[in-house]
Amino acid sequence: MSAKQASKIQYTVTAGGKVSGRIRVPGDKSISHRSIMLGAIANGTTRVSGFLEGADALATLNAFRQMGVNISGPDEGRVEIEGVGLQGLKAATSSLDVGNSGTSMRLLSGLLVGQNFSSNLTGDKSLSSRPMRRVIDPLTGMGAGINCREGGLAPLEISGNQALSGIHYELPVASAQVKSAVLLAGLYAQGETCVTEPAPTRDHTERMLQGFGYTVRRNGSTVCLTGGGTLTSTDIDVPADISSAAFFMVAASIAEGSELTLQHVGVNPTRIGIINLLKLMGGNIQLSNEREIGGEPVADITVKYAPLNGIDIPEDQVPLAIDEFPVLFIAAACAKGTTTLTGARELRVKESDRIQVMADGLEILGIGTKVTDDGIVIEGGQIGGGHVDSHADHRIAMAFAIAGLRAEKVIKIDDCANVDTSFPGFVKLATQCGLSVNDATNE
Ligand code: S3P
Repeated sequence: MSAKQASKIQYTVTAGGKVSGRIRVPGDKSISHRSIMLGAIANGTTRVSGFLEGADALATLNAFRQMGVNISGPDEGRVEIEGVGLQGLKAATSSLDVGNSGTSMRLLSGLLVGQNFSSNLTGDKSLSSRPMRRVIDPLTGMGAGINCREGGLAPLEISGNQALSGIHYELPVASAQVKSAVLLAGLYAQGETCVTEPAPTRDHTERMLQGFGYTVRRNGSTVCLTGGGTLTSTDIDVPADISSAAFFMVAASIAEGSELTLQHVGVNPTRIGIINLLKLMGGNIQLSNEREIGGEPVADITVKYAPLNGIDIPEDQVPLAIDEFPVLFIAAACAKGTTTLTGARELRVKESDRIQVMADGLEILGIGTKVTDDGIVIEGGQIGGGHVDSHADHRIAMAFAIAGLRAEKVIKIDDCANVDTSFPGFVKLATQCGLSVNDATNE
């Protein structure tokens, strides 16, 4: 299918229904990206299972192939990376196009500033309008050379052969991507690199570096490493992505008669805002079979229908649920009373402006919202039906698909092709557990 056709995928969601069964959603996107990046710069062969075969993680995989790394797979989630060591990457012969993937662009920036060759990073329309200054500033502070478009936008031209020195960087925004970019550059820098975060953000980079035998020191909100070490290959079992599981957690919570178990889900404490917030709203969520796999906590999650109540979302939960707000807004729309979100300006610079785009869609579906600079107020009510636009944002498309469970009429959702960036097979899995979603190429 051509990109032009793909961009016209439309979902049609039949109103009503419930979800049940035991399902495993695809692998964690953040961990999949990092498994390729660290595997590539390690010594030895890294074997990954449970890898997310979605467009974003595949963009990272292809970028490393372009830089001369032998990678076999993915084959049913299995990938083998023949690490080339910290100094073994080679210049790509063309630009590294990472499509829709902010994680690829920001983390790769950190890694590429340390190479002895120059690189060019490009992305799609959405990624080319997202802020890159947040990585350019600390990396140039370490001695990197990065050119960008006016306004701090991609494409990024990254100079090779720059001597980097360690930095102590205080993150102005709670961002795991920026933290990770600085730490990856720190592997190539002289001396110690430290990052202090204003609030806890996902710590997969730190955990995985340690899994590759690299010393990372954490002291409160500061994480440090010293450049010039080596990474040793390891095996990685990628858990199911809690951000993908979130759609089904909300689905089971809002649809009467539902009971659904999500298997082998990553429940890293920096990612469980969705569980905390749904519980705060009255959700019935149980974790079982809790275990640790490859340095990451994993559990099965059982969710049963429960009437939800509106809440004031505690701001400390915002970074822990940052990717789950589109579907949490659907939970809020189905809840009794008012839900208020503040301190979430970051949502405006995700794959779309998730505050405005969700508010526009919810209004079309008959749900009252008030948009604020850094959040939204949502009045729980009856979801009607109608035709909404996902603005090519994967999580918006899936969130509105879940809303169908409590709708009175059909919901049509435009521009859904990017669901494949994080959740290949979403329609099939959703159908399997009881949703009624059809995707069609809309001519
Ligand atoms: C990610 C970090 C988050 C998240 C993104 C993935 C990561 O972004 O929204 O989907 O893998 O590090 P920020 O850290 O920029 O908030």
